[in-house]
Amino acid sequence: MANVTRDFFIGLSNNKCLNDQAKKWGFRLGAEKFVAGTNIESVTKVVKDLNRNGISCTIDNLGEYISVKSEATAAKQELIKIIEKIHVEKLDCHISVKLTLLGLDIDRAFCIDNIKEVLDVAKEYNVFVNFDMEDYSHYEQTMEVLHLFKDTYPLIGTVIQSYLYRAADDLEGLEDTRIRLVKGAYKEAESVAYQSKEEIDRNFIQLAKERLLGDAFTSIATHDHHIINELKMFIADKKIDKSKFEFQMLYGFRTEMQYELAEEGYPFCTYIPFGTDWFAYFMRRLAERPQNMNLVLKDVFYT
Ligand code: FDA
Repeated sequence: MANVTRDFFIGLSNNKCLNDQAKKWGFRLGAEKFVAGTNIESVTKVVKDLNRNGISCTIDNLGEYISVKSEATAAKQELIKIIEKIHVEKLDCHISVKLTLLGLDIDRAFCIDNIKEVLDVAKEYNVFVNFDMEDYSHYEQTMEVLHLFKDTYPLIGTVIQSYLYRAADDLEGLEDTRIRLVKGAYKEAESVAYQSKEEIDRNFIQLAKERLLGDAFTSIATHDHHIINELKMFIADKKIDKSKFEFQMLYGFRTEMQYELAEEGYPFCTYIPFGTDWFAYFMRRLAERPQNMNLVLKDVFYT
């Protein structure tokens, strides 16, 4: 049953027509709880508030699967404005970007040019850029882009998904690169990805421990308190330096725990999406946690 619900919401997240329509609706279905407004000013306010509480942030300008060049160009300009804002306002913040937002599905060369422009500004202002990992059909290309740029732009990294069988092998080439470790949010075939929660969780814990023992920085991105508690013990036991990792969670999820971890002295970063293109992001969150449906029902019945 859980898999049927998950497949249903993942199916909705991929529906282009609904995604396009939702941009015109404004926030609906309770999405505003998980998305920090539609513009740079609204997201900046949220970042400043979290920074005041010792929490660092990563901003995601929502949007993916862009198929029109003008939209990718507009997204690139918005990302550059965000980086400038981070610099001017001295925010403790970096950016997260999906390469399909910058035109990966349109034309690879066009996308590479867009990325380069963003990375040039990020390098000038010393702002870290993370390439979010999308579904498996974009995996190879995202890795290629990372490897293409990582020697010229040291302040870049990407995401490794523990549901992929190849995750451990791919991490072997990334011992010098900052990585966000996640379980994986898309529906992937049995030929490439573990399907059971036990295997995905076991792989996550194993990969996290290996990374923590290595040299490069790792963002441990999960809301799963079982995993967080196990890794907290490992970190204490192995005396892992706090400069080598952070915990990450999504804006609006387990907020109390986010503050608790920061108060306990763990480096913590909140992933903050903003923008009008919220539908696919929100449907994936419903796929992971159908309990969020309560918010949807409240929105439908009480507004
Ligand atoms: P999971 O959903 O497996 O839940 C495990 C347990 O944790 C639950 O059974 C429950 O006990 C508890 N729990 C979880 N959420 C809770 C809540 N809200 N309230 C109470 N209890 C809760 N994916 C991807 O493919 N590419 C990417 O680039 C990213 N980026 C990314 C960034 C960040 C900061 C995060 C946190 C996640 C991503 N993801 C992602 C999504 C990721 O792959 C994954 O789908 C979700 O994080 C869900 O898995 P979790 O490990 O969080 O818990």
